Amino acid sequence: MLSWSLALLASASTAQAAFFQPFPDCTKAPLSNNQVCNSTLSPPERAAALVAALTTEEKLANLISNAKGAPRIGLPAYNWWSEALHGVAYAPGTQFQKGDGEFNSSTSFPMPLLMAAGFNDDLTERIGAVIGLESRAFGNGRWSGLDYWTPNVNPFKDPRWGRGSETPGEDILRIKRYAESMIRGLEGPVPEKERQVVATCKHYAGNDFEDWNGATRHNFNAKISLQDLAEYYMMPFQQCARDSKVGSIMCAYNAVNGVPSCASPYLLNTVLRDHWKWTEHNNYITSDCEAVLDVSENHKYAKSNAEGTAMTFEAGMDSSCEYESSSDIPGAWDQGLLKIETVDRALKRLYEGIIRVGYFDGKKSRYSSIGWKDVNKPESQRLALQSAVEGIVMTKNDGTLPLKLKKTSKLAMIGFWADDGKKLSGGYSGTPAFTHTPAYAARRLGYTVSVAPGPVLETTSANDTWTQKALDAAKASDYILYFGGLDTSAAGETKDRMNLNWPQAQLALIEKLTSLGKPFVMIQMGDQVDDTPVLKLKGVNSILWANWPGQDGGEAVMQLLAGVAAPAGRLPVTQYPTNYTEEVPMTEMSLRPSATNPGRTYRWYPTPILPFGFGLHYTTFKPSAPADKSFPKTFKIKDLLARCSAQFPDTCPFPSLPVEVKNTGKATSDYVVLAFLSGEYGPKPYPIKTLASYARLSGLKPGKKVETKLKWNLGSLARHDENGNTVLYPGTYTVTIDEPTLTSFKFKLEGEATVLDKWPAP
Ligand SMILES: *[C@@H]1O[C@H](CO)[C@@H](O)[C@H](O)[C@H]1NC(C)=O
Ligand SMILES: *[C@@H]1O[C@H](CO)[C@@H](O)[C@H](O)[C@H]1NC(C)=O
Ligand SMILES: *[C@@H]1O[C@H](CO)[C@@H](O)[C@H](O)[C@H]1NC(C)=O
Ligand SMILES: *[C@@H]1O[C@H](CO)[C@@H](O)[C@H](O)[C@H]1NC(C)=O
Repeated sequence: MLSWSLALLASASTAQAAFFQPFPDCTKAPLSNNQVCNSTLSPPERAAALVAALTTEEKLANLISNAKGAPRIGLPAYNWWSEALHGVAYAPGTQFQKGDGEFNSSTSFPMPLLMAAGFNDDLTERIGAVIGLESRAFGNGRWSGLDYWTPNVNPFKDPRWGRGSETPGEDILRIKRYAESMIRGLEGPVPEKERQVVATCKHYAGNDFEDWNGATRHNFNAKISLQDLAEYYMMPFQQCARDSKVGSIMCAYNAVNGVPSCASPYLLNTVLRDHWKWTEHNNYITSDCEAVLDVSENHKYAKSNAEGTAMTFEAGMDSSCEYESSSDIPGAWDQGLLKIETVDRALKRLYEGIIRVGYFDGKKSRYSSIGWKDVNKPESQRLALQSAVEGIVMTKNDGTLPLKLKKTSKLAMIGFWADDGKKLSGGYSGTPAFTHTPAYAARRLGYTVSVAPGPVLETTSANDTWTQKALDAAKASDYILYFGGLDTSAAGETKDRMNLNWPQAQLALIEKLTSLGKPFVMIQMGDQVDDTPVLKLKGVNSILWANWPGQDGGEAVMQLLAGVAAPAGRLPVTQYPTNYTEEVPMTEMSLRPSATNPGRTYRWYPTPILPFGFGLHYTTFKPSAPADKSFPKTFKIKDLLARCSAQFPDTCPFPSLPVEVKNTGKATSDYVVLAFLSGEYGPKPYPIKTLASYARLSGLKPGKKVETKLKWNLGSLARHDENGNTVLYPGTYTVTIDEPTLTSFKFKLEGEATVLDKWPAP
C-alpha cells in the first residue's frame, strides 16, 4: 500500500479529544439489545448476532476498510487500516494530534531490517509488546483502530526492492522468528482470550517488487515453482497463520502463477485456511489497498470490476482496502455475482476479529485501561535505543574503532544525515517524541562538533560550497565521521532501483575527505548498495551499517563509536555486486542458479560482496563444536518421528545443540551464534548452506566462556522437494558456526526419507 507519511489527513490544528468515532456503547440502546453485547456468548455467536441484525445495504457498506458501520443499530463507523511497522504510524485509520496534546507522538523503533540484524528474538518480542501497547492506547483514545497492518514478512530476496527495509531480511528462519516474536508482542500474551491489537501479516504472497522496467506490482504475475513457493515465499505466512495464529492476513497486489493473490482460492483457501488450519480461528483477510480493482483493471483476470470484486470475496478475502472507491461491491451484488453467504461469512470473520480485541466490551475489556499514559514510557524509549545499538553492523574496521576519544576531541560530522532527525525513521513512521541525531548525541557528550551537510542522491551533486564546508569541518577536527549511504526513501515506496551503485557525488566527497589522512569512519544508512568502493578505499578506516535506526539512532551510533557499547549485529541480507542487477531481472522469482540466474540469497548465490550473517566485533570469539558426549553423531529418522506427536511434525524439536563460546579478546561484547546446515541430501541442486538456528549471547566479558543450547526442530533440518513437500532426508549433515565459519562438525540421519508436510497441489 502507499506510504501514509502524509499527515495531510490529520485533524485541525487545535487540540482534539479524539479523531475517530467512539467504540460501540453496549450499555446503551439500541446496541445493548443486540446479543453482540452479551459477553457470556462466544465470539462467533456474538458476531453472528450482529450480522443477523444488519440489512443487506448495511452489510455491503461494511466490507471495505473505511467501514460505515450501522448507526441504526448503534454500530459506529470503523477504519480497519492502521499501521505500526516500527511504532504507531500514520494511516487513514491512525492519526496523531498536531502540536501539543495527547496522542501527538509514539515511540519510533529502527526499521525492521535493523531490528532483525540484532538477532535477538526476546528483544523483538519486548518491542512488539511496546508497539502493541502504544497501538492499543491510540485505539482506546480513538486516534486509531485496533487492527494494525504489520508485520511485513515478504522475504527481501532482491537488493533492488524499494521496501526491503520493512522486512526482517532474506532468510526464512530469521523472518519466521521475527514474525513469531513480533506477533506475540503485538497481540499480547493471551490472544485466545483477548488480543491487545490485531496484527496482520502481509503481503500474501510473492510480493517483493514494486515498479521495475515497465512491470508494476499491480499487474505483475509472479511465476513461482511449487518448490520455491513452499520453501521460501510461503514460509513466513505459515509461521503467521499456522503457528502464530495471527489475527489477519493481507493478500497482495501481484498474481501468483496467473491468479491475482486476492482472487486465488488456492492461496486463500487451499493453503491458508485449509492446509494451515487457519480457518479454525475464523480470522480475516484484507486486500492490499486497491488490489481488488487490480483484478480486472490490471491483471485483466475479470471482465469487469464487479466480476473481479465478486471473485475476491468468493475466493475467501473478507475486506477490501481502498482509498475512496476501488472495488465494486454494489455492482457485484446487483449482478448477482456475490452470494449472501459469502457476505455474511466475511462480516462474521471481521466482527469476530474486533470482538476478540474487546471492541464491544467497554471497560470490561482487559486492555481498556491502556491510554496516553502508556505511550513514550522511559523503558519503551530505552528499548528503541537498545534495538538500534544491537542491530548496527560493523562491516570494516582496521582498529580505528572504537575511537579513542578525549574530552577535548574534535569531531567533523559530515553528510546528509549527520544532523537531520527526519532521516532516522524510514518508511511507515509516526511522529516520534524526539529524534536524536548523531551530532546531537556527540554534543551532549561534550565533544566539539563541526557539522557539514552533504549530497544525498546523484541529483544533488557535491557543489563547491558544500565540499568546501566539509573540508573546513574536517580540517578543524581530529576525526572525520561521514554519514552517508543511499536514502531510498527519497525515491518513495513504489520505486525499485535500477542499480546498486554508491551515489557518485558522495564518493567524490569521501575521496576528498579521506585524502586528508585523518581517521575516517563511515556510518552508512539505507538499503543495499555494493560497498566495494568504500570497502577498498584505504582512507575509509571503519564502516558501521545503521540502516534506519529510529528516534535514538544518533545516540546508538555515538555509543558504538565511543566504545560505550560494542557492535554485534549481523547482516540480515546478502550484499551483491553492482553487476548482479544485469545478471537477473527483478521479475525472476526462481531462487536456484541456472543459465539465466546467478542464484538468489546466501543459500544459492556464491560470490557476495558481504555475506548474509557477516558482522565484525571489538573483540574476538571462539565458538566450539559440542563435545562428543553432549551431542549424538547419528539419529534414526524413524526414532525422531516416533517421539514426535505434534499436529505439524516439522515443529517437533530436534535435540538442542550445545555450543560453547569464549570471548578471546579484550572488549566486553554481545555475540550472535549462527548455526548453518549444509550437505548433499535431498533434491539437487543443494543449497550452499541454510541457517538452522541462532541465539544472541549478551555481555560476554573478556576471557569468559558460556555455553548456549541452540533450539531447532525437524523442520530446520528438512528440505523441500520439487512438489513442495517438506522432507527429512537421510545423509551427512554439516553444522558450521558463524560467518565466516569458525568451527564445524557433522552428524548423520539414517533411514528412509520421510515427508513431514505434504504440500497441497494447486
Ligand atoms: C446472554 O446469553 C446467555 C446464553 O445464551 C443467555 O442465557 C442470557 O440470557 C443472555 N443475556 C442477555 C442479557 O440477553
Ligand atoms: C506533544 O504535546 C506535548 C504537550 O502536551 C508537548 O510538550 C510535546 O512537545 C508535543 N510533542 C510533539 C511531537 O509535538
Ligand atoms: C550547493 O548546495 C546547497 C545545498 O543544496 C545549496 O544550498 C547551495 O545553494 C548550493 N550552492 C551552489 C553554488 O550551487
Ligand atoms: C560481477 O562482479 C563480481 C565481483 O566484482 C565478479 O566476480 C563477477 O565475475 C562479475 N560477473 C560478471 C558476469 O561480470
